Amino acid sequence: VALPTKIWTVGSLLSWATNDFQSKNFADARLSSELLLASALKSDRVGLYLQHDKPVEESVRNVFRRLVEERRRGTPVAYLLGEKEFYSMSFTVRPGVLIPRPETELLVDEVCGWLTERRIQKPRICDVGTGSGAIAVTLKNKMPESAVTAIDISEEALGIARENATKHGVDVEFQKGDLLDEVNAKFDCVVANLPYISEEEYKSLSVEVREFEPKTALVSGNTGLELIEKLVAQVGRGNRSDAIFLEIGFGQETQVREIMNRNDFVKIKVRNDYAGVARVVSAFKGTSDGA
Ligand SMILES: C[S@@+](CC[C@H](N)C(=O)[O-])C[C@H]1O[C@@H](n2cnc3c(N)ncnc32)[C@H](O)[C@@H]1O
Repeated sequence: VALPTKIWTVGSLLSWATNDFQSKNFADARLSSELLLASALKSDRVGLYLQHDKPVEESVRNVFRRLVEERRRGTPVAYLLGEKEFYSMSFTVRPGVLIPRPETELLVDEVCGWLTERRIQKPRICDVGTGSGAIAVTLKNKMPESAVTAIDISEEALGIARENATKHGVDVEFQKGDLLDEVNAKFDCVVANLPYISEEEYKSLSVEVREFEPKTALVSGNTGLELIEKLVAQVGRGNRSDAIFLEIGFGQETQVREIMNRNDFVKIKVRNDYAGVARVVSAFKGTSDGA
């Protein structure tokens, strides 16, 4: 007598994967399961709830099982889905480019807030270390009148950033370069989320980050501050802009303030992220009103 085969529904698949991820101590076990199943079903998370008791056909179950297995090995969900939401927009991501983080949205907010306050009509913005293009594309999308230049040292990242600009129908000028070495123009502001992790700190990052995300997008020398220091000097002493907006790492506020002061920036503003960590530093020259 054939045993009745279990009927796998949307609901039971979600419970199975959630339990599995929880047993491995993955954060966001339920959310990850939902995103992966929605992707296998070519649906969205709301769709899952509408189909909760619906049986799932074998071909979809096989796709889902493969995604769950890769997640178990540590592959970030965003790479499995090929996309990550940033500022309510979907950005294409693949291994080779950093997955944009929610705290970086604060950096975008600071830039937009300042440009709006200053009523700069057609701002020239430069995003250094653009990665997936998350900052550059979001800024251009929010401020269509702006002229946005985006730079990265990684050809692979630039390719993905270009895809994201096309996806969102915005015109951003992408350039390959080491910080501002290849760029002569002046800008109303320079914005950057550069690598800011030290070699030592890198060793303590999760396997998920170390094994899957590009090291060149994360690590900046022995102190973590090498790239920030070089860029601030290029922008400040090098007179490339009177305003700079940076994302910084845990515990770097004091040193970054000093770097700013050494490079002609006089007004400095620091914004904390949702965890209360100093995360965004905005700095302005004397001529620029950063109030
Ligand atoms: C922390 S990621 C940020 C990516 C993106 N801006 C974001 O916020 O999601 C840093 C980026 O800087 C790039 N990068 C590293 N060193 C660089 C350099 N010397 N010049 C330009 N870009 C650099 C990396 O390739 C990576 O894409």
